[in-house]
This record gives sequence, C-alpha cells and structure tokens, in this order.
Amino acid sequence: MTDPKTYHVKSYGCQMNVYDGERMAELMAAQGLTATDDAGAADLVVLNTCHIREKATEKVYSEIGRLRKNAGEHGRRAPMIAVAGCVAQAEGEEIIRRAKVDVVVGPQAYHNLPRLVADAAHGTASLDTDMPAIAKFGALPARRRVGPTAFLTVQEGCDKFCTYCVVPYTRGAEVSRGFDSLIDEAKALVDAGAREITLLGQNVNAWSQGERGLHDLIVALDRIPGLARIRYTTSHPNDMTQGLIDAHRDVEKLMPFLHLPVQSGSERVLKAMNRSHTRDSYLRVLDRVRAARPDIALSGDFIVGFPGETDAEFEDTLRLVDEVGYAQCFSFKYSPRPGTPAAEMEDAFVPDAVADERLQRLQAALNRHQLAFNDASVGSSCAVLLERAGRHPGQMIGKSPWLQSVHLETDAAIGDMVEVDLVSAGPNSLAGVARVKQAA
Ligand code: 5AD
Ligand code: SF4
Repeated sequence: MTDPKTYHVKSYGCQMNVYDGERMAELMAAQGLTATDDAGAADLVVLNTCHIREKATEKVYSEIGRLRKNAGEHGRRAPMIAVAGCVAQAEGEEIIRRAKVDVVVGPQAYHNLPRLVADAAHGTASLDTDMPAIAKFGALPARRRVGPTAFLTVQEGCDKFCTYCVVPYTRGAEVSRGFDSLIDEAKALVDAGAREITLLGQNVNAWSQGERGLHDLIVALDRIPGLARIRYTTSHPNDMTQGLIDAHRDVEKLMPFLHLPVQSGSERVLKAMNRSHTRDSYLRVLDRVRAARPDIALSGDFIVGFPGETDAEFEDTLRLVDEVGYAQCFSFKYSPRPGTPAAEMEDAFVPDAVADERLQRLQAALNRHQLAFNDASVGSSCAVLLERAGRHPGQMIGKSPWLQSVHLETDAAIGDMVEVDLVSAGPNSLAGVARVKQAA
C-alpha cells in the first residue's frame, strides 16, 4: 500500500465524535493530505465509530464491506481503512482480525494517527488504544477554519458506571482539560469564525480544575469578544452545582437550554441502572434550574425496556415526561452491551416487541411535547444564528436560543445573528420572518 493522498473522515454517534472527527481531519490536512467529501474516492477512510448501542457497532462492519465493494465495482484499489472511536477502543485487535482493517486507533490516541497511517502504508496493520489522560490535545494542530457553531471538548470519560453503559470502559475515567488551554482553543475557534461554542463532555458539568467548576469556565468564555453564544452538553443531574444553575441566570451568552438525561421515571429502574439520583432529586434539580431561568428549554435521554422494567414502571416514565414537558428528547430501546452489568441480567430481558411498543408510545409523547413547545413560541420573536443555507435560494436555517431550527428567507449570511418573528411551528422546526439584519 502507498501513502494516501486523499482522506475522508466519517463520524458516527455523539457530538464528541464529531469534534474528534474534525480534529482528525485537521491532523490529516496538516500532513499534506487533501480532504474529499466522497468516501468512495478517498485513499484513506477514517471511520470514527460509536459503540453505545449494538446497531451503532454493526454499522461499522457493514460500512467497511460497502467501501470495499464499491472500490471493486469501480475497478479501484480498496482504500486504507482506519477504525477510530469507541468501537476501536472496545474491540481493538478483534477488528483487525474480523475486518482486516489497516489502522485501529482509540479515542485517546488519535493524535498518533499520522504515524499509524504511515506504518500501515508500509505494510503493517497498526493499533493504538492507549489511554493517556488528555495527552492528545497538546499534540493536535491549531484550529483554523470553522463554521458559526463549533464544539469544544472540555472533559472526557465517565466515573458513574450506569449499569447499561459502555462509556466508562471505552472513554475511561473522568478527566478535565486545563482551563488555560481551553480558553486558548475557544479564542482560536472565535478567530476562525465561531460565534457559538458548545462545550462537550461525557459528563461536561463534572469539569473541574482545582476550585474551579464549569460555571467558572463559562464566565471566562463570556468575556471573549465575538463569541455570542455558549452551550454545554451532556450533563449529569448529580453534577448540576448551584454555581452552574446561577450561571443560567447571570451569564447572558449562556443559552437557555439544558440537556439533562434522566433515562427512566421509575425509582426502582433508576436504582437498577445505578444512576445515583432518584426521580425526585432529578425533578428538584429541574425546579432549581427553572427558578434561575424560567424560560429554559429542557431536553433528556430515555431508555425503555431496561432489564426487568414492568408496564407500571414504564408508565412512571410517561408520567415524568408529562410532568417535565421537555422541549426535545432522545429515546432508545435498551441494547445489551458486552461487559456491562445489565447485559448479565439476561433472565430479566424485556421482549423486543414490548420494548418496541414502549418506545413508540414514549416517542409519541415526546413528539407531542416538542410540538407544544414549538407552538408556544409562535407569535414571539428571537435572535436566530444562521447556520446553513436552506434548499431554496434565499432560504436560511438557523437556531433559536432554545436550540429550535428556524427556517426563514433572508439575504443575511451564514454566521449572522438575525432577529426573527416566529410565525408557524412543526414538531422539528419553526418558520420565521426576518426583521432587521443586525451587525455581525
Ligand atoms: N442501550 C440503550 N441506550 C443506551 N444509552 C447508553 N447506553 C445504552 C444502552 N446500552 C443511551 C442513554 C445515554 C445516551 C447517550 O445513550 O440514554 O444517555
Ligand atoms: Fe454512560 Fe451513565 Fe456515564 Fe452517561 S453517566 S456516560 S449514561 S455511565
């Protein structure tokens, strides 16, 4: 195999993978490789994978097969394939055996990608799944060009060990990046065009350095000229400190949106999940957040069909959904992950058909709340940050402070903040009419 000249990075799963994928692309570009949007034409394809549910894992193997078949059909040599992300971390050597890929690199080791790719080009399949805490960030090239919204990983890993979840195994223990390097990276992102930064972490609100917590970082980011919006995700209910809650009241750039997964509305299921919070303690946190920021939009994650979940316990989840009135949510069917405690509870597995039905009922309830939340915005106006062009000429799509997608006609540019009257709502987006273009 020769040294690759073009590359394509495909990221699956969470926003942290999107961030990692961007950093890997920057790393390849710094080596003189050229990016291509067409995975089928690239010399090197990096599959930045997700291991959170079984389906996500299987996708990787089918994508590898597809890439090779496609190359064969076009009379091209199969691309060099690098598997990165959480499947790489969890399965390691097994991927080289099963799929004969060229490189396997874990989420904490991808700064070594250039060396691994060079080794592979000289004939040795190479693997690096070491987990040195945070070493990669110091070894990555500087940020250059980004869109109006950018991700910034501030924290990685998880010490919570929910019984269904692979993250503590694939991403390792909770580690926070240093304050100064984060402020430097945030400034570089703003210089490179970002107007909104979303702070990322598997438990982003567990970020700390000495006495400082996430709210101190947010307050410092608030002072960066040119940065208009700050968001953060994903949070754990037990790490919602009063300082962070107060930041929702005090920091203007901090958007009124909180993604706070609860997973289940049943006290017993929460215990079996080892969530280390109760239904009540979760609801009390939300009360405090709402007291600080009454217009906050709430979001969450849910799992249905956790081993042993009864009909009555599932009803508890539906009642919680109605009580909170989420603006948007993600919901999943429980998927047993190898090596996790819940995967051992085979005797209590919920039949697929039952879990499917619960998921449908939950999603119907969540959609109803999402539509109600969007409907309630109609008739008001808000600032919309334009993120991308729509399908029709002159159409733009941006986000409201509450993370709703807003479609509008405007001659303003991507990255502009526009004041918009919201005129109609659907479950997934709103239509708006631009008022005046503000200075960017
Ligand atoms: N099965 C189904 N959903 C899961 N999640 C995490 N692990 C599993 C699993 N084994 C969901 C949780 C988490 C989100 C990122 O993915 O809801 O918050
Ligand atoms: Fe997984 Fe629980 Fe950690 Fe979230 S808090 S990453 S669900 S173990």
